[in-house]
Amino acid sequence: MTDPAHIQHPDLPDLDAVAVLGWYDRHARALPWRVSPASRAAGARPDPYRVWLSEIMLQQTTIAAVRAYFETFVELWPTVADLAAAPLDDVLVRWAGLGYYARARNLHACARVVAEQHGGRFPTTAAALRALPGIGDYTSAAIAAICQDEPVAVLDGNVERVAARYLALGRPVREEKPRIRAWVQAAVPARAGDFAQAMMDIGATICAPRRANCLLCPLEPGCAGTRTANPLAFPLPADRKAKPSRTGHAFVITRPDGAVFLRQRGPKGMLAKMTEVPSSDWTDIPAEPAFPFAGDWREKGVVNHTFTHFHLTLTVWHISADHPLDEGWWGDGAALEDEALPSLYRKVLAKAGHEGKKAGHEGKKKPPA
Ligand code: ADE
Repeated sequence: MTDPAHIQHPDLPDLDAVAVLGWYDRHARALPWRVSPASRAAGARPDPYRVWLSEIMLQQTTIAAVRAYFETFVELWPTVADLAAAPLDDVLVRWAGLGYYARARNLHACARVVAEQHGGRFPTTAAALRALPGIGDYTSAAIAAICQDEPVAVLDGNVERVAARYLALGRPVREEKPRIRAWVQAAVPARAGDFAQAMMDIGATICAPRRANCLLCPLEPGCAGTRTANPLAFPLPADRKAKPSRTGHAFVITRPDGAVFLRQRGPKGMLAKMTEVPSSDWTDIPAEPAFPFAGDWREKGVVNHTFTHFHLTLTVWHISADHPLDEGWWGDGAALEDEALPSLYRKVLAKAGHEGKKAGHEGKKKPPA
């Protein structure tokens, strides 16, 4: 081995890429954006647009949750140029329910850059991809490996867990990332794209967070974790910082015909420009409700929601009144799935007695301008 990463870490056992690829040839998951190992061997290459879209959607979300969204996006916008030409509001409506709306904004910004500055073709190297909006180390490496077989290590949470178990690492992953990267990098074979996807599939289906199917694992022969009493003890948990909490009030106004009053959130901050029911600011110190107008407001309970950096508790208030506010619109109470309502406000509406359907369905519309 002449790879410098490997020379730096001669203490670590090799990662057996041949075993990993052999397993992938037999067990690769069929995914809508993936080209199977057999087709790849026959010369087929994945569409970078589809790979990019799937990778952005899959950040912190499961494949099961992403499938329907992915199918809707590629049906509506089959190419990156189509996505670039779509109004941002339409993209946000279709994204509603996936969370992390800054990602949807970056997705759209990235599509525009690729369409306008790269002639509608994604750059091919990880370094060039890294310069695009919303594409970081992981995503650039994943696209370059999967689409071009660029020999780069692709490390997501699944792969890091496989590494932590295989090596029975005695420290949390956060402290071991450089060593894990070097270990995977040293093993990357010519079939870099299949290898990257194989490692992710092993992490998702065999070496899962709460279950390790060691008997089925191609890495079992060299795995240190499976030789301990409890492979699931790896990776060691990181010291968790307590998330701060914020509170606020949400005001659900329904008309006798079932319409619900909605409005658009401001252009900056959390859930920017998404649809909401009228709400207070979210504050560190709980505040009394400032009702939008006087009336028979009823307290319906609280909704808890966890964002990346804080927990939010909203007290939900309801009133039946034909009383629009200055800014906003009456949403059809029977078609709330057509609104760009983030999960938080779907929970709020459910708490107020409205069964808004989950996002990700056909027939959505954008909020009125
Ligand atoms: N998770 C994120 N991207 C993936 C991919 N390309 N294959 C399998 N699992 C993934």
